[in-house]
Amino acid sequence: MDIPILLCKDEQKKPIPEDSELVFGKTFTNHMFFMHYNDSKWQNPRIIPYQPFEMDPACAVLHYSQEIFEGMKAFRHPDDTINLFRPYENAERMNLSAERMCMPKLNKDLFVKAIIEVVRVDKEWVPKSPGTSLYIRPTMIASETYLGLRPSNEYYFFVILSPVGYFFKDGFKPTKAYVATENVRATPGGTGEAKTGGNYAGTLYETQKAKDLGYPQVIWLDSLERKYIDEGSAMNIIFVVDDELYTPPLIGTILPGITRKSVLELAENLGYTTHEEMLDINVLAEQIKNNQCTEAFFVGTAASITPIGEIFFKQENYTINGGEVGPITKHLYDELIGIQTGKIPDRFNWTVKVG
Ligand code: COI
Repeated sequence: MDIPILLCKDEQKKPIPEDSELVFGKTFTNHMFFMHYNDSKWQNPRIIPYQPFEMDPACAVLHYSQEIFEGMKAFRHPDDTINLFRPYENAERMNLSAERMCMPKLNKDLFVKAIIEVVRVDKEWVPKSPGTSLYIRPTMIASETYLGLRPSNEYYFFVILSPVGYFFKDGFKPTKAYVATENVRATPGGTGEAKTGGNYAGTLYETQKAKDLGYPQVIWLDSLERKYIDEGSAMNIIFVVDDELYTPPLIGTILPGITRKSVLELAENLGYTTHEEMLDINVLAEQIKNNQCTEAFFVGTAASITPIGEIFFKQENYTINGGEVGPITKHLYDELIGIQTGKIPDRFNWTVKVG
């Protein structure tokens, strides 16, 4: 199926920012993909000039947050082709989120085609400097004008594009994380594994507190015992203990991260042993102290691989690897970024060419 394209007029076109000016999620390209759902089907898929849309103040998403989204990236390769990273994984996860939030599923081929087409239209916006990419934000919202509490009968699905630099302003440098010991992000049986806005809104209060204390990120603990690692506010987390990788299992409370999955697959392929198991923060804190846990890093689409140099837990600071990037973190980062940016051949068939 061809997706109709309405190009913006020359006078509507925005200037493309320099790579050096890019910050995460501030600038958007000239076009977007849009379709809506009513009469029990997705209607009128199209690419249109990037624009605000009108919403009735009684629109369901504004009241009950029936919303899901994805985060993906396109990279410019040395041969100037543009490539997506594992887009079918995002299609799959979006449908899992849709199911949890009682929203309509998307045809996975249409999802990927929509992204390929809109990225192709704005391909000159894909930056090329190290640490940059085109961030892709597919989003579905409940658009019915209705205040009763039930799943909406109407939805918007749209895809917007944003050229980005590093998620953390310091780039690939160790960040600091604060372990939240009171509030929680998710609970068994809740919506923790769905990529829905409310999960992120719920992290803001604690993250603000952490930032005020000098920690840009929060590490969340489980809701029942407040001792097992969950994830960061915007990404999953991996620890290196005795040169092996440890990350919490997918038990319904954490996001099934595509970067998490890719890093685990990559690590196994490179000969590292990986474990998905419940991780007690008290044990990890001891292991950091006695240099058994030598590295820790966040993994996410926006954050890529971000090393953690210091963890604040119960009024104590735990410095990891002297606050420096560890060798395993660096190895995995170089491999992942190498594949994403086309500098290392993609032996996994993860990349999908846009053109
Ligand atoms: C992503 O990593 O793509 C996310 O959606 C996290 C978001 C907070 C930027």
